[in-house]
Amino acid sequence: MPSGRRGRVPVGSSLLEAARQLGVEIESICGGRLTCGKCRIQVENGQFPKHGILSADAHLSSAAADEQTLLLKIGSPECRLACTAQVQDDLLIFVPEESRAHKQIIRKSATERVIEIDPAVRQVYVVVDEAELGEHRGDWGRLQAALTDQWQLTNLTIDLPVLRRLQSALRQGNWQITVTLWQEQEVIDVQPGYAEGAYGVAVDIGSTTVAGHLCDLRTGAILATESAMNPQVRYGEDLMSRVSYAIQHTDGTEKMHQAILETLNRLIAKIAKEAGVRPQTIYEAVFVGNTTMTHLLLNINPVELGGAPFALANREAMDLKARDLGLRISPSANIHILPAEAGHVGADNVGVLIAEAPYQQDEIILLVDVGTNAEIVLGNREWLYSASSPTGPAFEGAQISYGMRAAPGAIERVRIDPATQIARFRVIGEGRWSDEWLADGAEQPAYRAAGICGSGIIEAVAEMFLAGILLPDGRFNPENQGDRLLWRGRTGAYILAAGDQTGSGDPILVTQEDVRNIQLAKAALYAGAKLLLNRAGISAVDRITLAGAFGSYIDPKYAMILGLIPDCDLAKVVAVGNAAGDGARIALLNRQKRIEAQEVARWIRYIETAVDPEFQNEFVGAIHLPHATDAFPHLTGLLPEKGEKSGGRGRERRRPRLG
Ligand code: FES
Repeated sequence: MPSGRRGRVPVGSSLLEAARQLGVEIESICGGRLTCGKCRIQVENGQFPKHGILSADAHLSSAAADEQTLLLKIGSPECRLACTAQVQDDLLIFVPEESRAHKQIIRKSATERVIEIDPAVRQVYVVVDEAELGEHRGDWGRLQAALTDQWQLTNLTIDLPVLRRLQSALRQGNWQITVTLWQEQEVIDVQPGYAEGAYGVAVDIGSTTVAGHLCDLRTGAILATESAMNPQVRYGEDLMSRVSYAIQHTDGTEKMHQAILETLNRLIAKIAKEAGVRPQTIYEAVFVGNTTMTHLLLNINPVELGGAPFALANREAMDLKARDLGLRISPSANIHILPAEAGHVGADNVGVLIAEAPYQQDEIILLVDVGTNAEIVLGNREWLYSASSPTGPAFEGAQISYGMRAAPGAIERVRIDPATQIARFRVIGEGRWSDEWLADGAEQPAYRAAGICGSGIIEAVAEMFLAGILLPDGRFNPENQGDRLLWRGRTGAYILAAGDQTGSGDPILVTQEDVRNIQLAKAALYAGAKLLLNRAGISAVDRITLAGAFGSYIDPKYAMILGLIPDCDLAKVVAVGNAAGDGARIALLNRQKRIEAQEVARWIRYIETAVDPEFQNEFVGAIHLPHATDAFPHLTGLLPEKGEKSGGRGRERRRPRLG
């Protein structure tokens, strides 16, 4: 149990052998040497009519002193060790979760998925023949023989720095060592005696944020998580400015490479310390990132990505040694970089693909990863298209007059009363809405407003549209002369937060320029999605998945009111958080997923938006709020009716209620 496998084995077989024979994989690092304690199981006692057997502790050989000592040491006196307990009679055995090899873990997010633990790195404990006069195999030859004999491992190679340590490890461990293997092909570490602990890091290198998880490769558990700013921001906010920096400065690529490498080393040292793990026992790292990020990580000049035909240096997945990159983990550790799809759709999108697996679904899914560049995927198990849209950094708060990153004090939620046109808002770091902390006798807020972040500006623009402050073409309604509006000539600005609501004492405004920048960004995203819908010959999607940190914060209702995404049942618009990072973790914990990643990266059809004339046409229509011509039936009752003139202050106006 719980697999339910049953069968007959000869009396005297070890439970480990019996399980293997029945196709049940039980963990074992020491190979039955009563050292690791990983193979513990429990006997179910009693009569089991369903199975027609009587199972009892006594139906196993009795536990010898060394087994009892180890069970006490690992705090499981009620268990037995499968490698040593022998079958004497009928038994019903329960294999606890922690003893199961290839165990499964649940990835917790909006769309829960199971990850099967099958990492590329594995540790085994071996006893090696001692060197003797007249026996000439060499220590590596003897180790290979032991690995074949005890673990059925053949055709192995050994990394040179490990070979340099092999002789001392063997003698120090009295000819018993723990071997760390990569892909069951290469020995990447040897440690004297029995040692335990193989770890890996999964890192998503975003243009603005780098996020990493440290995982236990045996259990799949996340031991620590950290993020840091991408230091390359100082060389350019968006990708194209970084490519330009590399073109204009001979040492530009090297500088940006060193900057990200230092950050990665610092981040890894931090998570290792937090989890109490020695960096030398981190045996694998999986990276995802957009194509510019992976070029810079590898110190490859990204110049070719700056213009058509957007040629990548390499589109395939890569495996390289940590020491070749200068990553301070085990020098023999493998670095795996997921493949890319095309010049503008990189390993991060492939990470999203393996995390969300649209290629295994029947429903037609639109998958949008919103960032400085938006990556868009459309399709299902039959067909899959991808594209990239140059949304620019407006959604991250850049190019917005009072824009800021999602940090304490940033306005993240906005509601505007259409009658008074006064906004109430919520800032990051303060749970209450502004009207609650402004009320008489209310406690001071933890933070006053300092600026507007991405989700805040989306809600602000959408609410301004719903309140009649903005016309469908994005202009401020010139008929509106309310006191929340400031007019300079014919250009308007809206006072989102008054001076007494902000940290600085100055009001926070949303200007016409800000609205334009949001319109351009959202039109790029919508046009990219529409282009794929047209290519697929469909007019609607079954489901929309928003990936990326930003996707988690935007309210789908407002995203649709703004016309950022096409019409869809709102109940079927979900945010899945950092799916690219999840994809990196999945590839770290399951090597089969790397093969799947490579296959889907080749199978997906990439559409180049930059050169498609249809993109321009779609873009123009998508500038309107929510769109010049496309219908949004799922927003019926929420949007102002077509032809309804937006009202100025005091005008009686039907305003839909949003939650
Ligand atoms: S396999 Fe290590 S104690 Fe049983």
